[in-house]
Amino acid sequence: MKTGSIILAAGKSTRMKSAIPKVLHVLGGKKMVEYPLEVLTPLSDLKPVVIVGNEAETVQKVIGDRAQYALQEPQLGTAHAVLQAKPLLDGKVDTILVAYADMPLISRDTFQQILETHQTHRAVMTLLTFQSEKARGFGRLLRDENGNPREIIEESVATQEQLALRELNVGVYCFDAAWLWEALPRIPVSPKGEYFLTDLLSSAVVAGKMVKTVSLADPDEAIGINNRIHLAEAEAALRKRVNNHWMLGGVTILDPATTYIETTVTIGQDSVILPNTYLMGNTTIGEGCQIGPNTIVKDTQIGSRCRVTFSVLEKAIIEDQVDIGPFAHLREGAHLAQGVHMGNFGEIKNSYLGPGTKMGHFSYIGDATIGAEVNIGAGTITCNFDGVRKNPTEIGDHVFIGSDSMLVAPIKLGEGARTGAGAVVTKNVPDYSLAVGVPARVIRKLAKPDG
Ligand code: UD1
Ligand code: CA
Repeated sequence: MKTGSIILAAGKSTRMKSAIPKVLHVLGGKKMVEYPLEVLTPLSDLKPVVIVGNEAETVQKVIGDRAQYALQEPQLGTAHAVLQAKPLLDGKVDTILVAYADMPLISRDTFQQILETHQTHRAVMTLLTFQSEKARGFGRLLRDENGNPREIIEESVATQEQLALRELNVGVYCFDAAWLWEALPRIPVSPKGEYFLTDLLSSAVVAGKMVKTVSLADPDEAIGINNRIHLAEAEAALRKRVNNHWMLGGVTILDPATTYIETTVTIGQDSVILPNTYLMGNTTIGEGCQIGPNTIVKDTQIGSRCRVTFSVLEKAIIEDQVDIGPFAHLREGAHLAQGVHMGNFGEIKNSYLGPGTKMGHFSYIGDATIGAEVNIGAGTITCNFDGVRKNPTEIGDHVFIGSDSMLVAPIKLGEGARTGAGAVVTKNVPDYSLAVGVPARVIRKLAKPDG
């Protein structure tokens, strides 16, 4: 038995009032359409088929070769959308899962359950429903006197009596492929000229075929996105899901309501995340760290037992036992080795700071390679930009940079060198030498420590 899958993403999504197609709006750091795609890929024997139409090229560019595509032009409704996948799937799969790209919170377990129910009962159609007081514009499921599903009634064509029905159609289906291709073209057109996928239910019932329903356990999964209020609701539900995952995995989150962890992030055991913290993109955090409050970490690797307070970190690497903030800014290519301390009001870009190096107060370090156990005095600046080029700075182990030193790059400070407070260093300083003044001059050799 082979399984295929179809994701509907061709609609106009007028209710979002957006220049961006709805399915490309971001949720938990990913595009909406990526959720069904990632969940359906491991359940499908062929790449999922994404139905594109509105802004087809933009959508295809984002998904790339993770899917196959069928173009729906014009968009005549959900049944018409599914029919466009026929040339790609007919004769290749026996069972087909169908999902809407605007229902991103449906879990893999739910799809799995539908697939299993469908196959166990040899149904032609299996669909997901849930009971809710809030109808949210969903189709209503009508059952016969024996409780068997009979029909789905779209809100736009429902009577007052039907609108009161509380079992809703979530919009996830499993079909017998042969039956689907035969039944789809026979769906009647709606008064507005659309072909409703939901009408397949009554077709199956009338033909005496087996139809099954699965009811959704977690109502949050049924949050569909038609407008930006729904988008915020989905974001909150997803945030809860992600935070719960990490808390059950041994991470302390002081205030889950103000902790924003994207689905792409990983966090080690016994780390503590304090309020107003955003962990984004390709970020990993080791064990026993304390991150936040008020911190943004994006695309950054943080080792174990680090502390980051009131800071912004982007595309950086932080080894173990590093202490950062408050008010530090790490930019692309900052690499802080084990035991580095970076205090308040510092900025580091494209630079390596060796083990145990300390930068306590108000400094800018850019395009620098700095050794171990260096003391970077308050107010030190690497003057890396000469108006045309970015120039490198090299600083050896055990260097002591006096407060308010300007290091005019390209420049090298040798091992054990020192600069005086306020020095403007324009020439290389040799190992174990003291340079002072403006411009700085070497005034003394320094004793090498024993060993
Ligand atoms: C649909 C269901 C409804 C269900 C609800 C739950 C139908 C007729 N109705 O209504 O029973 O309760 O979802 O989420 O299926 N699309 C296309 N091509 C089209 C039309 C739509 O690809 O021609 C795509 C849209 O991009 C969207 C999805 O199909 O991702 C659903 O379409 P939408 O218009 O949002 O349907 P609903 O009104 O929400
Ligand atoms: Ca919808």
